Amino acid sequence: MNDYEREHLERLRKLAPECMVLLRKNGDFPLEKPGKIALFGSGARHTIKGGTGSGDVNARFVISVEEGLERAGFTVTSKGWLTCYDQVRETAAERFYDGIRREAKEKHQMPILIGMGRAMAEPEYLLPRNAEGDTAVYVLARNSGEGSDRRPIPGDVLLTETELRDILAIRREYKRFLLVLNVGGPVDLSPLGEVENILLLSQLGAGTGDAFADVLLGRSVPSGKLSTTWAAWEDYPTVGEYVQPDDTRYREGIYVGYRWFDTVGQVPLFPFGFGLSYTDFHYGKVSVALHGSRVTVNVPVKNSGRFPGKEIVQVYVSVPAGKLDQPKQTLAAFGKTALLEPGKRETLHLAFSLEELASFDEEASAWVLEPGRYIVRVGASSRDTVPAALVELDERVVLRQVKHVGGKPDFTDWKSEAIPEKLPQELPILKAEAAAFKPIPCPKPAVPSDYAKGLVAGLGDEELLKLCLGQFSGSGLASVIGSASQSVAGAAGETYGGIPGLAGLVMADGPAGLRLSRQYTRDAKGAHAIGSTMPADMAELMPAAVRHIIKLTQGKPKGEVYEQYCSSIPIGTALAQSWDPAVAEACGDLVGREMEIFGVQLWLAPAFNIHRTILCGRNFEYYAEDPLLAGRMAAGMTRGVQRHPGCGVTIKHFCCNNQELNRMTSNSLVSERALREIYLRAFEICIRESDPVALMTSYNLLNGEHTSQRADLLQTLLREEWGYRGLLMTDWVVAQASGKGRHAVARSAPSIAAGNIFMPGSQADLAGALKALRGQDKRYALSRFEAERCAAQVVDCVLRLRK
Ligand code: BGC
Repeated sequence: MNDYEREHLERLRKLAPECMVLLRKNGDFPLEKPGKIALFGSGARHTIKGGTGSGDVNARFVISVEEGLERAGFTVTSKGWLTCYDQVRETAAERFYDGIRREAKEKHQMPILIGMGRAMAEPEYLLPRNAEGDTAVYVLARNSGEGSDRRPIPGDVLLTETELRDILAIRREYKRFLLVLNVGGPVDLSPLGEVENILLLSQLGAGTGDAFADVLLGRSVPSGKLSTTWAAWEDYPTVGEYVQPDDTRYREGIYVGYRWFDTVGQVPLFPFGFGLSYTDFHYGKVSVALHGSRVTVNVPVKNSGRFPGKEIVQVYVSVPAGKLDQPKQTLAAFGKTALLEPGKRETLHLAFSLEELASFDEEASAWVLEPGRYIVRVGASSRDTVPAALVELDERVVLRQVKHVGGKPDFTDWKSEAIPEKLPQELPILKAEAAAFKPIPCPKPAVPSDYAKGLVAGLGDEELLKLCLGQFSGSGLASVIGSASQSVAGAAGETYGGIPGLAGLVMADGPAGLRLSRQYTRDAKGAHAIGSTMPADMAELMPAAVRHIIKLTQGKPKGEVYEQYCSSIPIGTALAQSWDPAVAEACGDLVGREMEIFGVQLWLAPAFNIHRTILCGRNFEYYAEDPLLAGRMAAGMTRGVQRHPGCGVTIKHFCCNNQELNRMTSNSLVSERALREIYLRAFEICIRESDPVALMTSYNLLNGEHTSQRADLLQTLLREEWGYRGLLMTDWVVAQASGKGRHAVARSAPSIAAGNIFMPGSQADLAGALKALRGQDKRYALSRFEAERCAAQVVDCVLRLRK
């Protein structure tokens, strides 16, 4: 291992407990010292460090829970069970891949298209269990990934009969029992009401096993809280449409996650923002102050238990319903204490501006605050919030009038009834003056620099358009296997580097670390990955020709072999569970350092689409169901990466990319209010707080038009309304992987016209754009002005990163 790897692993080990959520406890844990331990469950030996797909980092190794416990001095007494389970799993995997190949044959499709990201559901089995010790740990694992969504079936969202039977039996058989969840999203735990100790370990990267052992022994303490509501499967909302092949209607409007649960009074198993600690916390008397439109909530927190711990306090506001309906409450601020020793106190000062609670009035096309009583509430989760003060506003305040963007769906949003609430008599009332409100600032629209404009104006059509595409090489096959960069092996792509004096920008995936190939060779044509940069399960489903290429490069490589081992950090959801942007920033800092080491300029992360449904196969990469939490975490990550000169993030997938089914051609139908308040909000916060260098649009359509082709989103909103100056790029539209659906895939010409560089680029994409530019395409028009505008942003980005 290199020094940087060792150092990063150590840093991540310290951060990991911040991301773990203790869901239930009875005081049996932590353990005092290592001893005999009976270890069961699919994640015990096959611990998942993060989901599959482009977000999977090619780490040097993964420390499983079993290894982590042994390294900490435990004796695992259930080796027999674990080995038998290996067999069960192997057989199930063979059956799983055979099934995909058969299905592909019947549907006349490539197996990779059918099986991409499809996680094998946990099999059923009966294995003898006789393992010594007083303590048992059951590690339940789930995987998912890009290309497929999760399913509400046993072995995925639901427990299998085997899991249910074994977990309940093991709980009865051992003195102490801990259920550990090595998952990237909710599993329906409703049948496990009697299990007293549950730890959501999550998927924490290569050091997952060590981090778990630390927490089991109380050497560190879990201090995360949920960033998504965990409920019984049948209790999730069915108001909207979810995961439809062509058109998915977001009928629930703004009522996403806890906004829906809290409004309709549906009790989840574990609410948004919930998490316990080994210790307990007591909140003292909360005080609330209002200065102009700025609200400060002071919350004294005391560690009233026996262990050290950190507490996350949340402030929610109930916005009064008026012309616009409102959810029961909205997260307005949050904070986390330092590590408090037993008996110690800290007062958190949590602040927000009332402007941040504005709603979007579609009719007026404006951000508004309606008159009435704003109830400020404080809680340890979204479900136990207590009113702390009322802020009264007498008149309607219009904060900013904007142009409509995003198009219109073919329905009106579901609306909640106004919920009457009896408030405590003695609540302080703070009067807000409409005059104190600051209009939402109108930043200067972002325009290309004169230098960039001059440079692109002098290019011939073909050179100009090459700058509007990713740099591509001959076959395009490399793009399909996730490594279209010729300069850095295993990197996802790069911008065109053929213009003298203008270097290309290398882009590598994330978000769970930097995704490169572990080893490579180099020749005059560039860097060549040794073996596959894609996960083994994906490679398994590749066409024979691709498997053959992978095999060839795996053999004896010609020339010197170089290494690029990258650290894998916790998945996005786990990071958000820390509720601490500084944790994301620390991870970003470490990624930025590795980008410098390996010569990568743009990291294709962070990804933070909203957790709209727990079925979305890529939720594990994303942060939260709430835009404030997601946006703040993304900003932290951005600051960490961009602290390194020459390194930038690429925030993605902009926007409404909330399912994987037919991901390149699915159409999200969303009202403008929901779009702006929920789905664009996290991006807006991240852009405002941290100035990310680049942004990737999503594959999907929004109200009938690809997001990547929507000038209203890219120009009117991003450039003009938000003043965003970063590089805009499409997601990787690869013809071979486009799948089937009613809608067409995005095309180069309209994407470039809207202001997006088209990635990863191919000869066909160049030909298409040229045809449109020359006015020879009946469907798409592309003007020289649009192409120059698109190319100029690449020049400016190169200047920004490669000075
Ligand atoms: C994914 C992106 C990723 C890109 C490059 C796409 O399939 O959706 O998240 O950054 O590939 O690998």
